[in-house]
Amino acid sequence: MRIGLFDSGIGGLSVLKKLIETLPAHYIYVADTMRAPYGTKSRDTIETFSREIIGFLMERKVERIFAACNTSDSTMEKYRHAFKIPYHSIIQAGVNASKYERVAVIGTHTTVQSGIYKQALEERGKKVAQRPAQLFVSLVEEGIFYGNMVEAVVKFYLEPFRRFKPDELILGCTHFPFLKDIIARVMENVRIIDPADEMVREVSHLVGSGKPFAEFYVTGNPEEFEKKLKKIGFRHPYQVKHLEVTELEQKVVYFERACDIDRVLGSG
Ligand code: DGL
Repeated sequence: MRIGLFDSGIGGLSVLKKLIETLPAHYIYVADTMRAPYGTKSRDTIETFSREIIGFLMERKVERIFAACNTSDSTMEKYRHAFKIPYHSIIQAGVNASKYERVAVIGTHTTVQSGIYKQALEERGKKVAQRPAQLFVSLVEEGIFYGNMVEAVVKFYLEPFRRFKPDELILGCTHFPFLKDIIARVMENVRIIDPADEMVREVSHLVGSGKPFAEFYVTGNPEEFEKKLKKIGFRHPYQVKHLEVTELEQKVVYFERACDIDRVLGSG
C-alpha cells in the first residue's frame, strides 16, 4: 500500500511515527521546508501549496492521503468530500477526539484564523477558546523540545487559558506534540489531545502491506531534514530526496486526479 503524507516540515513526523507502527506501508512524505512555515501565510497561498503537494502525491499513485498538517488541512475543507481516494483530515480527527465540554485549541495563525476547529466543536455543543502558538513551530524545527526557554514560551502562550478553565487542550498543529511533556506540565489536570492518536485509531481496522518504508521529498535542504529525522529517533528504513519547488508547482494539474473538482464547484 502506498500512502501519502505532507507537512511544512518535521511536524508531520509526529503523525507518521504513530501511523507507521499501526499501518506498515510505503509512505511518501512531502516536507515543504523551503516554503515553511505555513502558519504565517495566507489561506489562499496554503491552499495552492496543498493542491500542488496532493497533485504530486497522486502522480506517485498513493492510495490514501493523511493530512499531517493542520494548516494545510484547514484549507482543504471544501474539497474533503470530493476526494476520490480516502483523505484523512487531522482536524476532523482532533474534533472527534474531544470528549469534554470546555475545549481549548492551539494551532498556527492560519489554522486559528480559519475558525475551523472552533466551528466544528461548537456545532457539537462545546465551549471553545483558541489561541495561535506559532513560536512552538520554530522551537520544534530548531530541535528545541525541552528546557527553560521552552517552558517560558509554553507558559506565555498557554497561561491565558487559565481563566477559561479548559477540560481539554487540542494540539491543533502537528509540530506541537514534540513539546507535549512541557505543555502537559503547564496545563496540569487538562486532558491533552494529540489528534494523531485518533487518526491512527480510526484506521486501526486497516491491514497494511509490505515492510514499513518512508520516502521523504524535501523542498529545502535534505541533509538538514535527515539530521532532524535522526534527532527524533525515526527508526524505520527511509530515503530522503530533494524536490524542487518549481517541479512541485507543476503538479497542481494532478490534483484533479485526487479530487472531483466539478463536485466542489457544484456544491459551492
Ligand atoms: N505542522 C503544521 C500544522 O499542523 C504547520 C506548521 C507551520 O508550518 O506553521 O499546522
